Amino acid sequence: MNHIPVLLKESIDSLNIKDNGTYIDATYGCGGHTKLILSKLGINGRIYAIDCDITTILKHKILDKRIIYIHNNFSNLKFFLNNEIGKIDGILFDLGISSFQLDNPKRGFSYIFNGPLDMRINQNQNINAYKLLQDINEKKLSEILKIYGEERFHKRIAYNIKKYLLNNKLNNTKDLSYSICSAFNKKNKFKHPARRSFQAIRIFLNKEIEELKKVLNISLDLLKKNGIMSIISFHSLEDRIIKNFMKKNSSYNKNIIRKIPLTENEINNLYFKKKNLKLKIINRIFPNKNEILTNLRSRSAILRVAKKI
Ligand SMILES: C[S@@+](CC[C@H](N)C(=O)[O-])C[C@H]1O[C@@H](n2cnc3c(N)ncnc32)[C@H](O)[C@@H]1O
Repeated sequence: MNHIPVLLKESIDSLNIKDNGTYIDATYGCGGHTKLILSKLGINGRIYAIDCDITTILKHKILDKRIIYIHNNFSNLKFFLNNEIGKIDGILFDLGISSFQLDNPKRGFSYIFNGPLDMRINQNQNINAYKLLQDINEKKLSEILKIYGEERFHKRIAYNIKKYLLNNKLNNTKDLSYSICSAFNKKNKFKHPARRSFQAIRIFLNKEIEELKKVLNISLDLLKKNGIMSIISFHSLEDRIIKNFMKKNSSYNKNIIRKIPLTENEINNLYFKKKNLKLKIINRIFPNKNEILTNLRSRSAILRVAKKI
């Protein structure tokens, strides 16, 4: 299936593309967002297109002199864009994986198609899903399913997966899917029982939360004054991290302001905060009904936008 970019117009409009600006698409994927940036960019504009999945870049590469491709994890941005600190007009993140990756059985992300237990986004990474499931104990696995998949039946599922492994019955994504499904008594007509567990294993294996936490401060340093940070996320855990980061760098603690008179400590804190304000929160956007109907993947998306001040 072709990848349909999520919140495409909204995210690119939020970047307010300048004719000769310099932009980073930190999650290039199939190039959907980059293409729209390109269409608004003048001949001297530039886009750094980052993706840690080399097959994705090779397959979707657009030949345009304004694009500079970088095959690496976005958490390493500061190292390879050291010269661009304070010079970037906008940075975009569209987190997670694309339909191109999800629907390729060989990548092991899918609970529908059968394939190897891989799930690595960056194929240079040593550990794949099979090795991870072997290495961790049942308690840790249960914790991963609970935290990253918000899976209610995490204990039962972890027990089943480990049992399948012990009996040499966990050799591919179909086996994993079976082992998860067998933990459910009733089937949900609308959601596949293995969806949350596959997502949890993928997020943990690829250190997606750590990658995000690392890159937020780096992105802020790369932006110039009035530069824009636009981030699309699909998971409440990711969204909370982004929301808290933007809040921490942008606003006063309203509860303190409401409390009058302030203590000396609180006044000092406010002054410190004012001096350290780095962002202005611009917007929070959800996909509309039409987008959700035409692209189901967008249903859990949230776009958060902030401007460097
Ligand atoms: C949802 S897709 C982006 C789709 C893209 N915006 C489009 O419209 O075609 C996310 C992409 O980010 C890449 N990615 C995920 N985590 C990454 C990381 N830590 N560093 C670099 N790329 C990453 C994935 O390989 C994937 O291609």
